[in-house]
Amino acid sequence: MYPLRSPDAATIKTDMKDRIYVTDLKNHVGSSVTLYGWVAKARPTGKVAFITIRDGSGTCQCVLEKNETTESFFDVAKKLSQESSFTITGTPCLEERAPGGVEVRDITACNIIGESADYPITPKAHGVDFLMKQRHLWFRSQRQWHILRIRATIVDAIRQFFNGEGFKLIDTPIFAPAIGEGASTLFEVDYFDEQVFLAQTGQLYVEAACMAHDKVYCFGPTFRAEKSKTRRHLTEFWMVEPEMAFCEMDEVLELAENFVCSVVQRILKDNRDDIEAIGRDIASLEAIQKPFHRLRYADAVEMLHGPKAKELLENDLTEKTAEIEGLNNKITELEESGKTAKKQWQKEKAAQDIQTAREERTELEEQIANIPTHMKLAAEFQFGSDLGGSDETIISRLHDRPVFVTHYPREVKAFYMRVDRDDDRVVENFDLIAPQGYGEVIGGSMREENHDILLERIKAHSLPVENFEWYLDLRRYGSVPHGGFGLGVERTVAWLCGLKHIRETIPYPRMLGKIYP
Ligand code: 4AD
Ligand code: MG
Repeated sequence: MYPLRSPDAATIKTDMKDRIYVTDLKNHVGSSVTLYGWVAKARPTGKVAFITIRDGSGTCQCVLEKNETTESFFDVAKKLSQESSFTITGTPCLEERAPGGVEVRDITACNIIGESADYPITPKAHGVDFLMKQRHLWFRSQRQWHILRIRATIVDAIRQFFNGEGFKLIDTPIFAPAIGEGASTLFEVDYFDEQVFLAQTGQLYVEAACMAHDKVYCFGPTFRAEKSKTRRHLTEFWMVEPEMAFCEMDEVLELAENFVCSVVQRILKDNRDDIEAIGRDIASLEAIQKPFHRLRYADAVEMLHGPKAKELLENDLTEKTAEIEGLNNKITELEESGKTAKKQWQKEKAAQDIQTAREERTELEEQIANIPTHMKLAAEFQFGSDLGGSDETIISRLHDRPVFVTHYPREVKAFYMRVDRDDDRVVENFDLIAPQGYGEVIGGSMREENHDILLERIKAHSLPVENFEWYLDLRRYGSVPHGGFGLGVERTVAWLCGLKHIRETIPYPRMLGKIYP
């Protein structure tokens, strides 16, 4: 039994053993059940209180009518404020109009467990900065709840795929003595007076394990000191990295393709309701099918210079300008209707809608301001540079499916990538660019298996050779062609959930200037 915190809470006993989850209500229609949860919404009227309970599994409306049985707790229930925790006992009834098709009626008990006064997140529109500071509470909100459920399925689908394909899980260290990807994004740690780094990748360690088990993968948090705020970068993110021995690039691409498709199929099967609830267009997820496009970097450069890229951005400019026009009209109309509204709630609603429209307008204005820069970057893109965020967006939007961009110039890529034996300006690598402008979700490559070339590459990157002796050992003792890739979980969640910004894809985002809560 819980202590009853509220002095005037009713004292009808509830027993945890009775607990039924909202998702299970349909199996208990007609019999008395007890729900344990929080108040998502409460709408008391004179003789009836409509209380929406949120219990972790879902939400359900409870209808409490004032009568002889309920008199003792009706007034308490009427005071249930947003996010109070409580239990409620009643009878589930089928109700077509109710979300989930069930409603709880004939309430026989309602107990407050923990009160909640002045919950900071109210149904009115809040700015993202405010909500991010309230992240520990924000993820109780419906939309955030749906997103994190989809994330949980994605993480499970990742493990299931690799375990099912015979890959062995190899856990790799987070304290790393050497660079894994690039010097510019290292987080330094004082390790008993020795300078080490937080792992940017587990790859080098799975490469070693690959020579023991062949197919292996690691899956865990990785760290990058990203010093700029973008919608695609976190400083702490989760990455899964498979690695295979005795393979060539085609097989790695095929693995990536099968893997991504299986994750997508899984959320379509298990999370359809969540996907619909957040408004992600199901058809575009269903369109994620094999084969993905394959495009060499050199051809991507041509594409950026070409007429289609230019046309795309010019259309954006026209469309977004028209959208702003539309928003301006909407705002004027809302201002009018707010002024003439008779009821207070109508005024509040109008004010809320105005705020939302203004935020949308600001966002569009920013996007429009960036278009000329993106046009210039694309038109003047030089062979030898890395593709920037806006370039990826263009390439992604010019394809209807995910696209593998392969064979990048060696200068812009990591030291470990295998130099292409047919064209030594490039490496055998690939990025998987998600459609609809979501950008890179996977980076992968063949690994340089030749000792001497690898040594030369380590030196060319001015890396301390002594820290890589163990890694060079892999090329001394039975080296084989091998390769793999890394998929960023949060980029994938953003793509599959259709989120513009990566900050909502992880329970506690870490970004430049963001470390609380
Ligand atoms: O392309 P990256 O840097 O590749 C590697 O780390 C390789 N060691 C992987 C491998 O071959 N085993 O990163 C891989 C993926 C990116 O495609 C992206 O999805 C994600 O990790 N990623 C980030 N996600 C969020 N925030 C960041 N700052 C990220 N940096 C990379
Ligand atoms: Mg990359």
